[in-house]
Parts: sequence; C-alpha cells; structure tokens
Amino acid sequence: MPTAILSALPQEQSGLLAQLQQPQHLQHAGRSVWRGTLHGQSVVLALSGIGKVAAATTATALIERFGVARIVFTGVAGGVGTGVQVGDVVVAQDYVQHDMDASPLFARWELPGYGRQRLACDAALSALLLEAARACVSSAEGHFGLKYQAGHPRVHYGLVASGDRFVASAHEAHRLRTALLTGGHEVLAVEMEGAAVAQVCHDYGLPFAAVRTISDRADDSAHIDFPQFVRTVASRYAERIVQDL
Ligand code: ADE
Repeated sequence: MPTAILSALPQEQSGLLAQLQQPQHLQHAGRSVWRGTLHGQSVVLALSGIGKVAAATTATALIERFGVARIVFTGVAGGVGTGVQVGDVVVAQDYVQHDMDASPLFARWELPGYGRQRLACDAALSALLLEAARACVSSAEGHFGLKYQAGHPRVHYGLVASGDRFVASAHEAHRLRTALLTGGHEVLAVEMEGAAVAQVCHDYGLPFAAVRTISDRADDSAHIDFPQFVRTVASRYAERIVQDL
C-alpha cells in the first residue's frame, strides 16, 4: 500500500514531483494526484489545497480511493515558538486546532467527541522525519545557499497548531503562543491543514506525520516572508526530508 505525501501548495510539492518515477497523473474530487515511485517506494503525491476542510477531504479521498497506508504532510508553517526561526524545520509531535471552540459545552480547544485537545502524530514515522530533517540541516547544503540565519537551521519537535487563518500579526502569534502554553508545551508553529489530516488519520487508524519548514514568523511581515520563502526553498527541503521514509 502506498504512502501519501501531501502538500498544500504546488511550490511545496514541486521538488518531490521532479523526482517521481513512473508518474501517473489523476484528477479526483478536484484534486491533482500523482501516483509513482520515489526512492523505490510506492507513493501518492497530492495537493490538499489550503485550510482544514480542503485537507480533510483530500486525506479522506487518498484513504478511500487510493488505499494509502499512511500520510505524511510536508510544507511550510509560521514559527510562533520561542527560537523557531525562518529556515528551521519543525516535525510535529502532536496537533491542536487553535480555532476549535465549542465552549462552554466542551473545554476550549477540545475536539468534541474525542475527549481531548490534541491528537498525537505517529511516533515511528515522526522519528524517521526527525532523523532525515537533522541530516538535511546539518549537511553543507543546509541553507540551500540562502542566508536566513547566522548558523545552521535548527530542527524542533513538538506541538503544532492548525486553523483556518493565516496568522500575520505579532500580537496574534503571541496570543497563540501564550494561550496554548498548557502543561509546559509551547506551540512551535502554526499552519492551516495538519490537524485536520491528523483527525482523519485518527478516525481511520492510519499513521500520520508532518514536517514543516518555517517560512515566516506569523508576524507583521509574514505576508511578505511567506511567498518569498515558498518560491525559493520550500520544496527543496521536502525532497531531501522524505527520501528515507
Ligand atoms: N503557513 C505558513 N505561514 C503561515 C502563517 N503565518 N499562518 C498560517 N499558516 C501558515
């Protein structure tokens, strides 16, 4: 059974697509899907589109129609955690939907029907991503020729938040960081799809993991940093990180 590799945007996927062997292009539910092999493994590459509903639809279609055995998400995210800088890599340990609020019926951020606020990613699959991400950033080409930081980019492992908002103000990023700081877990990054895919995979009992490169700090310059980063480096990380799955 193939591994699905999901990205939100074509720019995040293009490096993987360039390496796909025996590519077969299909359209399903308005999604562009590629079947093929990557480093000898059977894979399905798909674009989720942006946002939780689009991502959940895509994940469901990949499971039901393409029979994928596990899903990996690769793309970019806004860094909100302390010390999470542009160019760093975040591997998700667990996910929260920061826009989920069914209070006072349920606790803030609790997923109704799940009895919890967070969904954990698959530990073994995440460990593979972590190992690959560490090897990638510590190599000589860690920067991909782009001077985002003084030293090598860092790899972080922890909580990621998803919601149907592009977070683009320092005030909101700070609010997310402090509000979601529960039990000593600081939210590291924010994006718009991962938690939805985590929920679908949880429902189907399939492993899910996610790796996100930080494109912006979810602050007042996020709308400038994000497109620039996506154009230049996003997909080059993905093609190196997922090769060892
Ligand atoms: N993906 C990348 N940057 C983001 C941000 N600032 N907010 C939400 N999703 C993002």
